[in-house]
Amino acid sequence: MHIPVLKEDVIRVLSPKRGDFVVDLTAGGGGHSVEFAKRLGKDGILVLIDWDEEMIKKAERKITEMVDEKDRPEIFFITANFADIDEVFSEIQIDRKPDIFFADLGISSFHLEEGTRGFSFRIEGPLDMRISRSIKLTAKEVVMNFSERQLADIIYRYALRKK
Ligand SMILES: C[S@@+](CC[C@H](N)C(=O)[O-])C[C@H]1O[C@@H](n2cnc3c(N)ncnc32)[C@H](O)[C@@H]1O
Repeated sequence: MHIPVLKEDVIRVLSPKRGDFVVDLTAGGGGHSVEFAKRLGKDGILVLIDWDEEMIKKAERKITEMVDEKDRPEIFFITANFADIDEVFSEIQIDRKPDIFFADLGISSFHLEEGTRGFSFRIEGPLDMRISRSIKLTAKEVVMNFSERQLADIIYRYALRKK
């Protein structure tokens, strides 16, 4: 079962209101977005972004099941890297500024529960670790083919570098 992290606190602190425009940059299974959608009502706008197409489908299913169709905001389900937010916004062409940006960074518990994705410590599977299947390079290729120097650079760059 998926439990959205700090759901009540997120809603209390961000306090989305009817008619607001909210952007969830890491929609995942839609746990937080369902709560946003319920509060925005039909005059609101909700943009859901996730780099993993499977997660966007899960989020869409969850919102369809759990948010009353008659009072659902206008919702955009978008498979994209949030780093490309400029392109996403030029595609959807909404002529107003968002009231809330929300990012719940990392991977989802769904990724950890699925062996084939290569993130799980418990379940056997290939060393894949791609969030987006549109990326060709897998973790296995990195570990098996990169030189010691390249691997050391990656660890330094992403884990050890100090300001
Ligand atoms: C911790 S989960 C979000 C869970 C979500 N808040 C929920 O309640 O279900 C993080 C999500 O961010 C996505 N993600 C990771 N890096 C991303 C990126 N660069 N752009 C867009 N989504 C990304 C992952 O696919 C994952 O679904």
